Amino acid sequence: MNYIYITGTGKGIGASIARELLKDKDNRVFGISRENEIEASNFSFNKVDLAELHIVERMKFKALENPSKIVLINNAGMLGDINYMGKLTSHEIQQVYNVNLVAPTLLINQFIERYRDIACQKIIINISSGASTNPYEAWSTYCASKAGLEMLSRVLIKEEEKQVHPFNIFSIAPGVVDTNMQEQIRATPIENFPHKEKFIDLKKNDQLFDRDFVASKIVEIIAHPSRVIDPIFRITK
Ligand SMILES: NC(=O)c1ccc[n+]([C@@H]2O[C@H](COP(=O)([O-])OP(=O)(O)OC[C@H]3O[C@@H](n4cnc5c(N)ncnc54)[C@H](OP(=O)(O)O)[C@@H]3O)[C@@H](O)[C@H]2O)c1
Repeated sequence: MNYIYITGTGKGIGASIARELLKDKDNRVFGISRENEIEASNFSFNKVDLAELHIVERMKFKALENPSKIVLINNAGMLGDINYMGKLTSHEIQQVYNVNLVAPTLLINQFIERYRDIACQKIIINISSGASTNPYEAWSTYCASKAGLEMLSRVLIKEEEKQVHPFNIFSIAPGVVDTNMQEQIRATPIENFPHKEKFIDLKKNDQLFDRDFVASKIVEIIAHPSRVIDPIFRITK
């Protein structure tokens, strides 16, 4: 049995990854988010607000029977308020860092501790973004948190090289994907986000990736992690 934990299965890319994985009855999927619309015999839902760190730190990964593969996908993410520094609220700043960076760090720490000595294939996928390396005005906390998550992946890759039963670490930027996140970007007033037109044009010219296409790429990586040459990459057609 393959056991796959995914954050942010309520909608978007995370929901698509879960649905794709659930087609295979050898996969047992655990969804972690605030909302859920998925029902399947091999799916369990754990209702968690990842911004609530006192809840995240108490989350326990399960004892698993004869796993062939154990996977954690840190997919949940939020842009927060799209606006310039000086116009953000303290609450919103903390929400973005908590969901995009602190919760994934806590989960990875708990996941590695729980499954360190298990000898099966073990994979951690962190969903990154082009924003981890490109500074976009009005996305300060989003860019900074995604940069932090990507650096966390880089450190983990080094740490795991030395382990007897290592975890395979990937940092994957999904490209520009047709989800609620893009709707939020297009709905932002131009005075708050100077790059808005670029994203409107991408949608108009049908250049957004379909979320199921992105999900299929990620599921392929879970099936064949050794085929990936560079573990830090962006999905392309
Ligand atoms: N779409 C893009 O163009 C794009 C580009 C680069 C990177 N990404 C990254 O891809 C990932 C998925 O984004 P998406 O495009 O699918 O966005 P989305 O449609 O807005 O979905 C975001 C997901 O994150 C979950 N989430 C957000 N806040 C949460 C919280 N406080 N607690 C628990 N779950 C929370 C949501 O679940 P609930 O609402 O059910 O809690 C939802 O499933 C994110 O990490 C994002 O940064 C997206």
